[in-house]
Amino acid sequence: MTLSQAEFIHLTQENLSKAYVPYSHFPVSAVLVTADDEVYTGINIENASFGLSNCGERTAIFKAVSEGKRNFKHLYIAGNTAEPISPCGACRQVMAEFFAPEMPITLISESGETKETNLHELLPYSFSEKQM
Ligand code: THU
Repeated sequence: MTLSQAEFIHLTQENLSKAYVPYSHFPVSAVLVTADDEVYTGINIENASFGLSNCGERTAIFKAVSEGKRNFKHLYIAGNTAEPISPCGACRQVMAEFFAPEMPITLISESGETKETNLHELLPYSFSEKQM
């Protein structure tokens, strides 16, 4: 699926409605685009045992990887936040497993304001298999 940047932003925001967030009421949506232009969506999925909740970003990444995808070209993340949403540390580490340091990551606020970033900025000097 090839969409414009504006369409991907809209899709990521629309997908917020699928979040399962009965405890935090804080929906997070992610849309991951593979190198071959497939699109995997993710939302956060909470649990009554709070620690088992899964973030939107990791849902999208795990869906794609479990379908055999390993090469990615763009990640969009949206929240109903005043500023473009900032992904948590656990998700940044999972991103580091699969994303090139310069791969574009678009962070989106409730109003649609965006911040363009990448893993090089979000997780400098990260732990990886290169150190093992
Ligand atoms: N959350 C995400 O889905 N992604 C992040 O990067 C930050 C936090 C979720 C986890 C929980 O369901 C809710 O947001 C509040 O922490």
